[in-house]
Amino acid sequence: TAHFARKTLTTAITGASLAFLALNAQAAQTVNLGHTLSDSSHYSVGADAFKETLERLSDGEFEVVEHTAGALGGERAMIEGLQIGTVDVVITSTGPLGNFVPETYVLDLPFLFEDYDQARCVLDSEIGQELLDKMSDHDIVGLAWSENGFRHMTNSQRSVKTPADAEGLKVRTMENKVHMAAFEQMGVHPTPMAFPEVFTALQQGTVDGQENPITVIVATKFWEVQDHLSLTGHVYSPAAVLGSPILLDGLSDEERGWFVEAAQAAAEATREEVSRLEREGVALLRENGMTVETDIDKAPFQEAVQPAYEIYTEQYGSEMLDRIRASD
Ligand code: PAF
Repeated sequence: TAHFARKTLTTAITGASLAFLALNAQAAQTVNLGHTLSDSSHYSVGADAFKETLERLSDGEFEVVEHTAGALGGERAMIEGLQIGTVDVVITSTGPLGNFVPETYVLDLPFLFEDYDQARCVLDSEIGQELLDKMSDHDIVGLAWSENGFRHMTNSQRSVKTPADAEGLKVRTMENKVHMAAFEQMGVHPTPMAFPEVFTALQQGTVDGQENPITVIVATKFWEVQDHLSLTGHVYSPAAVLGSPILLDGLSDEERGWFVEAAQAAAEATREEVSRLEREGVALLRENGMTVETDIDKAPFQEAVQPAYEIYTEQYGSEMLDRIRASD
């Protein structure tokens, strides 16, 4: 009987441990992270850093699954997904973000930032934090500012050195009214479109050109459909790491802290990759047959897009703009 009792007890304990293990195994919560670029892109470098950091800090409580190359849709669709909880974390440019959080439009003004140092410094300051905090008024959790890069123009028609050269080109822009206003002023025909449709639109000649940072031109192999690149650097393109309130509002402060830390790690890794591609990307694009105009006089471009500032301030005032300028 003693032997039988011992055996029963052992069986019960083993059963309980197995149940405990199973419970623990089930506890890993999947975090679906989406972005629109390829697995070799600067966003993927950031997504990998996010995954590594969150899984390490949470000791396996969260498991991050990366959905790249627009598998979850374009950036606007993914931001909507955050609001309704079908996506947990998104790495996105500010392209469509102003449609949800108008306060971020200020960052989309052309020639606002002079260089990477200045842009990164403003986004890492209390101004950047304020903009991240504002997002919660619009059902989005702003986790960290990451980076896409300074945007440049590409097209299939001709070499562009001045705004006059660009006149009449049909150029795909992001779904962003500040960008569209600026391009209109420049005399090009802006055609807003979600990024997953852009390659085909360029291939089929629906549009002549597009504008994006070196990072994106490399990651998307735009040389296959675009011959000319002009380093206009007409606008700095921030990226943001955003979370869904449906997931994050239910977490403890400690767990939310892990998400913020993971997003900051993503931003840091992405910025390093942007800097590397700024050094090495142009040579790669030339090797792949693109003609690159590096010596662009930015003054006429800057002058051409100036009315976009008036259009912006008429609607949103100049307070944030003045603060950014004063932080130089
Ligand atoms: O052009 C865009 O829509 C964005 O720059 C991109 C490529 C999706 C990266 O955020």
